[in-house]
Amino acid sequence: MKGATAKRVLVTAGPTREKIDPVRFISNYSTGTFGYEIAKAAKRLGLEVILISGPTALKVPRGVKFISVESARDMLGAVIENVKKCDCVIMASAVCDWRPIKVSGKKVKKHHGTTALKLIENPDILKLLSKRKKAILVGFALETEDLERNARKKLREKNLDIIVANRVKTGRSPFGKDKTDVLIIDKANRMIKVRNKSKSELAKIIVDKALNCNIY
Ligand code: CTP
Repeated sequence: MKGATAKRVLVTAGPTREKIDPVRFISNYSTGTFGYEIAKAAKRLGLEVILISGPTALKVPRGVKFISVESARDMLGAVIENVKKCDCVIMASAVCDWRPIKVSGKKVKKHHGTTALKLIENPDILKLLSKRKKAILVGFALETEDLERNARKKLREKNLDIIVANRVKTGRSPFGKDKTDVLIIDKANRMIKVRNKSKSELAKIIVDKALNCNIY
């Protein structure tokens, strides 16, 4: 696959939701914007796009194959089913790291005082993909501190070709439509800093880089 250019790309977007009971879940602040912009950018560049998304309020981009999922395990199933057809995977989703160990079939009633929610770790989708690596893998790292060090660690541990690292700063949300700064680091240790760009501008840069990634 050295030197190959991707033709079909799988993009994941949005948060996952992990059920507690029929009316409650745990999740995160992801809006899905980054992943949807990446899917649009890839489509504009003439790629076939499969977009696997957790729950968001966004409009499905035109011309992409869209698969809606809820939990991390649903997302894993959809990724495994579709990855064989793809030569590039861009995981822009904010997958919940944990899920409640038990899902109650009935609404859990409150009883005065504290309550404990026991969580178990979800599978790491990217790590599983990297074990039988057949596609270019692009991951994201969302960090509150040690951005570059944590991103490099994820790049290495998840055997990625590219990682896009994004810092959570006070007063400036990495979620939604705001402009943001990112570090893009590749497997050959090249790093670029991109400042104050919209997610649609960044999406184009990321897809371009993934397409020209011939280092795996
Ligand atoms: N990811 C994944 N499966 C998970 C968790 C994360 O595939 N269960 C992917 C994300 O889509 C992202 C990358 O791994 O592309 C890094 O996600 P992030 O949440 O920043 O890091 P984690 O690996 O979950 O580690 P931590 O939360 O401890 O920082």
